[in-house]
This record gives sequence, structure tokens and C-alpha cells, in this order.
Amino acid sequence: MKISFVGAGKVGFTLGKYFKLNGLNIEGFFSNNPDSAIAASDFIGCSYFSSLDDLVKNSEIIFITTNDDSIIEVWKKLKDLNIEGKIICHCSGSLSSEIFYDINNSGAYQYSIHPMYPFKDKYNSYKNFKTAYFSMEGHPKYFDYLKGLLESLGNSVLSIPKERKGEYHLANVMVSNLVLSLINIGVETLSNCGVDSETALKAMAPLINSNIENILSQSFENAITGPVVRGDVNTLNKHIESMNGDYKELYKKLSLNLLKISKNKNPEKDYSLAQRFLETI
Ligand SMILES: NC(=O)c1ccc[n+]([C@@H]2O[C@H](COP(=O)([O-])OP(=O)(O)OC[C@H]3O[C@@H](n4cnc5c(N)ncnc54)[C@H](OP(=O)(O)O)[C@@H]3O)[C@@H](O)[C@H]2O)c1
Repeated sequence: MKISFVGAGKVGFTLGKYFKLNGLNIEGFFSNNPDSAIAASDFIGCSYFSSLDDLVKNSEIIFITTNDDSIIEVWKKLKDLNIEGKIICHCSGSLSSEIFYDINNSGAYQYSIHPMYPFKDKYNSYKNFKTAYFSMEGHPKYFDYLKGLLESLGNSVLSIPKERKGEYHLANVMVSNLVLSLINIGVETLSNCGVDSETALKAMAPLINSNIENILSQSFENAITGPVVRGDVNTLNKHIESMNGDYKELYKKLSLNLLKISKNKNPEKDYSLAQRFLETI
């Protein structure tokens, strides 16, 4: 099937390039700014369209890869065109395919297909994309076809019910954006000790990297280190005394979760002191 993209940004460029390199039939791009569509067509080796109507006439699968807030705007235009039989997808992690309201009246089929990957630029993100999972939900008619298509590229596909997309996206944000925020807070805290923030990040890199590698290669229980799992309440108290009050609640919630993991790791160990301390900070 001929695939086209509306929205020549980071995800459009990356999926277009990746799909094309893996033998899929990429027809072309339409974007708000024609220069973006032209740049995508040069990079990927496909056409660009100067109107949405041309794109629709020349495509069977249409990926809307605009920013989330513009998906509805594109859909309002698409639904006034002849889209009978077309497969319409968006790539938002938080929105479901229900954003394509009234689609049943148009004879088209709706999907949300979310690549679980941080696309940080247009020209390089395709290189390591084979490791990425997709999540998918949408109309049964082409569900298995699209899932098979993505799996044929070597990517795995999770099926997520549309009513769970809020929770699903939260999970993604927890392990990516919020980890970034936590690392930033750690670096700022080290900077308070007189280390410039560039050096602080370098100094913390082995802590960050080994921690993530241990979680991924082993388990949360095997990767856990630090005062909570040791039950060192005096050390926890010292942290609280040195802490900017803004982060106390965050520290408490995350440490109580560490306590849960610690108890799984050491079911025979008495964590009651640590538990009481953390609950009362
Ligand atoms: N970035 C990520 O890590 C990531 C990961 C997974 C999923 N996603 C999802 O993928 C989608 C795209 O994200 P992105 O990061 O690629 O965004 P992006 O880099 O901001 O690109 C979106 C592009 O869409 C174009 N656009 C905006 N409104 C439009 C309209 N009405 N009609 C046609 N084109 C329009 C703009 O291009 P011009 O103005 O240049 O034409 C803009 O550059 C979003 O739904 C996002 O939630 C993103």
C-alpha cells in the first residue's frame, strides 16, 4: 500500500526514512510549510504534495505526524475529502483513534500508532529505530495487517485498549521525561556543593548509566542500591536535613516505592524503622 505523511517533523522524517529503507512504499509528504515537505522528500526519496487533496488521491495509508494539537485540525480537512477505504493513522501517545470523529460516515479506518521512542532530530533518529516498540489501537479491519507490517520491519507491537491511552502515555513519560527531570534535579543538587553543572553531569554519568544497564539486564531487585535497601535511617534523615523543601514529597514517594522493591528483595529483613521514618517526613 502507498504510504504518505501529513506533517514533516521529527516523527514524519524518521518513520518515512525507516519505512522506505525497509522496503515500504513511501509516496510523499504534505506539511504546513512546503519547505519542510520538500526537505522530507529529498531526504527520503519520495514526492511532496502541495495540497492535502493530492496526498489523499495518491495514498492508501495516511500518517498524520503533526504535533498533537494539530491532528484534529488536519482531520477536519481530511474528512471533507474523498477518503473512502483509506487507512488514517496518527502517532500521538496520549490521544486515541477516537479523535477521528464521524470516521464511520467516510468509509475510512482509524488507528493510533505510537512509536515508543524519543525522536530528538529529523535526520538521525531512524538509525537505531529497529529496537523501538510500537503501540497500536484502532479499527479491526486493518489492525492485523498494520501490526504485521510493522512486525515485518523487525519492530514489536503492543496492543493498548483506547480507554487506557492516558495511563499508557503516563508510563512512557515516567521512564523518559520524568527521569530527565530527576537527573536534572540531581545535577543541580551536586552543583550546590560547588561543582559546575557540566562536571556534575559527567561525574554522575556512571551512576546513571550503570543503574539503567543493571535494571535492563537484571531486575529492579538486583539493581537497587542505596540507603533505603540497606535500611540506613540515619542517612535518610541526613538527606531530609540537607534538602530543599520543594522536593521532600517527591523524595518520600520515590523512597516508599524503593522500600516496596527492597522488601521484595529481602523479605526476611525488618524495614519497619525505615517505613515509619519515610511515612512521617
Ligand atoms: N518527538 C517524539 O519523541 C515523539 C515520540 C512519539 C510520538 N510522537 C508523536 O508524533 C507526532 C509528531 O511529533 P514530532 O515530534 O515529529 O513533532 P514536530 O517535530 O513538531 O513536527 C510536527 C510537524 O507537523 C507540521 N504541522 C503542524 N501543523 C500542521 C498542519 N496543520 N498541517 C500540516 N502539517 C502541520 C509542522 O511542520 P512545518 O510547520 O515545518 O510544515 C511540524 O514541524 C505527535 O503526535 C507526537 O505526540 C512524538
